[in-house]
Amino acid sequence: MSDTQTFDPSEIERVMKTAPVIPVLVVKDVGKAREQAEALVDGGLKVLEVTLRTTDALEAIKRMNLVPGAIVGAGTVINARQLDEARGAGSEFIVSPGLTQDLGAAAVASGLPFLPGIANAGDIMRGLDLGLNHFKFFPAMAAGGIPALKALSGPFGQCLFCPTGGITAETAPEWLAMRNVLCLGGSWIVPDGASLEEINARAREAAALSN
Ligand code: 3PG
Repeated sequence: MSDTQTFDPSEIERVMKTAPVIPVLVVKDVGKAREQAEALVDGGLKVLEVTLRTTDALEAIKRMNLVPGAIVGAGTVINARQLDEARGAGSEFIVSPGLTQDLGAAAVASGLPFLPGIANAGDIMRGLDLGLNHFKFFPAMAAGGIPALKALSGPFGQCLFCPTGGITAETAPEWLAMRNVLCLGGSWIVPDGASLEEINARAREAAALSN
C-alpha cells in the first residue's frame, strides 16, 4: 500500500459503465477459467468479478487477465490483506460485500477502483466519509429490493449503485431502469456446470440490456 496513490472515483465509474452486468464468478475449476472468460468477453461482458471464495481464485484472476479485452477484478474482498493479494494477482478493481473503515482506507490508499458493498444509510455514510460514492447494493433483494434502493436514493442522490444479490435475467431490466443504477452484479450468467455455449449465450443476453 502506498500513500502516494490518489483515489479517483471516475475509475470505478468507468468500470461500472463498461457493461450492464458484471458476472460474479465462483471459480471451482481453474482449468476452465480462461475459456470461461473468453466466452464472457466474446458475449459482450468484459468486466469480470472473481470472488475470493475458492482456493484458486487468485490464479483464476491471473489466467482471466490473459484474455484480450477482459477487465478482471476481485470480489468478496473483506480485509486489507486480501486487497493486497488481489492486487498482486493483477486485479483491476476490488469489490467487497460490506464496508469497514480498515478496508475502505486501504482501498482508497491503493488507488485501485473500489466498489464496496452497502446495505443501509449508515454504510453509505461510512463510504461518503472515505470519499466514496459508488457502491454495490448488497444483498440487493434481501436488503429490500428496488423499494429499498429507491428510499436510499432520496438522502443519497449523489451515489451510484451496482445492485447485486438475488437478481435474475428476468428482474435485471427493472433494476437497470433506475437512474442511479449503472450496472448489476450477478452469478446467473455462469451457473454451476454451465457449458461455454450457455455462458456465451447468457452473456450476450445480458450485454444487450440497456444501462
Ligand atoms: C455476490 O457475491 O456478489 C453475490 O453472491 C452474488 O449474488 P447472486 O449469486 O444472487 O447473483
